[in-house]
Amino acid sequence: MPFDLANANANANANANANANGTVATAADVFKADIGIADVRIAQIGGTMEGAGRRIDASGRYVLPGGIDSHVHIAQASGPGIVMADDFDSATRAAAFGGNTTVMPFCLRERGTSLAAAFRDYRALADGASHTDPGFHLNFTDPTPQVLGQERPALIAEENRLVKVLMTYEAMRMDDAGILATTDVARRHGAKVMVHCENEDVIAFLSERAAGADDVAPRAHATTRPVAAEREATHRALTLAEVVDVPIVIVHVSNGTAIDQIARAPARGLDITAETCPQYLVLQADDLSRDNWEGAKYVCSPPPRDAAEQENCWRGPRSNLFDLFSSDHCPFRYEDVQGKRNPAGLRSFRHIRNGIPRIETRLPILVSEGVMKGRIDLPRFVALTATNNAKTCGMYPRKGTIAIGPDADIAIWNPEIRRTIRHADLHDAADYTPYEGLEVAGWPETVILRGTPVIGDGRLVAKAAGREVPRLG
Ligand code: URP
Ligand code: ZN
Ligand code: ZN
Repeated sequence: MPFDLANANANANANANANANGTVATAADVFKADIGIADVRIAQIGGTMEGAGRRIDASGRYVLPGGIDSHVHIAQASGPGIVMADDFDSATRAAAFGGNTTVMPFCLRERGTSLAAAFRDYRALADGASHTDPGFHLNFTDPTPQVLGQERPALIAEENRLVKVLMTYEAMRMDDAGILATTDVARRHGAKVMVHCENEDVIAFLSERAAGADDVAPRAHATTRPVAAEREATHRALTLAEVVDVPIVIVHVSNGTAIDQIARAPARGLDITAETCPQYLVLQADDLSRDNWEGAKYVCSPPPRDAAEQENCWRGPRSNLFDLFSSDHCPFRYEDVQGKRNPAGLRSFRHIRNGIPRIETRLPILVSEGVMKGRIDLPRFVALTATNNAKTCGMYPRKGTIAIGPDADIAIWNPEIRRTIRHADLHDAADYTPYEGLEVAGWPETVILRGTPVIGDGRLVAKAAGREVPRLG
């Protein structure tokens, strides 16, 4: 049923029969049932809800839990002169148009400053500006005894956060001693550790060599971050987690040899969660060779690989090797002196802003390339994009499923919609999409956040009402 803002507002707290005649999918089942929403929760599955004030006809549609994007970068302070394209308003609006109801960015603060203060300020950016519910991760960069002994344990313990550490990026990387100390703090407070696995010394060495040979175009970003650098770091991160005995989340896995490391870890007793992202399924390193510095549009880390590695990366979603499919949305404008075409970036790949926009296209790409092409089924899609994300981040069962009791976060998808992705039709504040021209089948038409429609009939129909999701453990 088409609805408008007045209708949605008028019924925001009334009972609603959110879905009639739709195909409902959870991570476990696919079934046909009406879903009744009372206030902000799912109150009934099956049968027509008494006193429903509104009815949305979902015939021929998929009715799925709202997407949870558990790895995004929004308005992140990333260094002098580096400005991300999106604030919370634009990023979460785009996320909602792409079928999401929760997004999880990272609080990153400069070394030597108070994380607690940075965290307070970062959360404030989302206040009143978020069209999805936000949930925050902490990024650790300086594991000094003083810092590890004081404010961070308190933050982890009180807030039950996931902690992210980076093995790359000169200004933020941690060496093995730092990772051991940080993960040990996380273990003591029952937190999981997310790790970005790339060997920074390998990258620095190859980057120097490339620069010395005047190999400075965007493609060098991919050649100086080879599969071997990711494989070695993945092995090392897993080894360190094994030694400390801490649950580990390996993010944005891009290739088969890193997957091999992950596949062997459970036999050694590791509690491991692994994630991949759309760019490793549909982009390739050759995209970084596009003419006129356009390759900069595809610079992200780890870089996209080749066709064989794309196929390898499908192993993760297809089997249970990967648990999470996130966007790693990290948006920079292309035609912008603070973005991809900043003056230094035009001279060398080493200064091209690292990251690409992808928050709105994550789910349509996996529906189209995964579900519609028969690589994964609907329950697996739901597991990878909502249920496992909620479980990993301590939000389940309040988020990430369709059952009686959880928040009524629902996306109604039309599998008949065929679209060619064009940035002009997307809603982030970047000025390009790396997926321009990609044909997809399936797009969300209606997105409901805690019982209130946010997207209806392809339009934003509610004010920004996102609320931080409490962690349950
Ligand atoms: O290219 C990427 N992934 N940039 C964002 C930062 C990160 O490494 O996740
Ligand atoms: Zn990363
Ligand atoms: Zn990231």
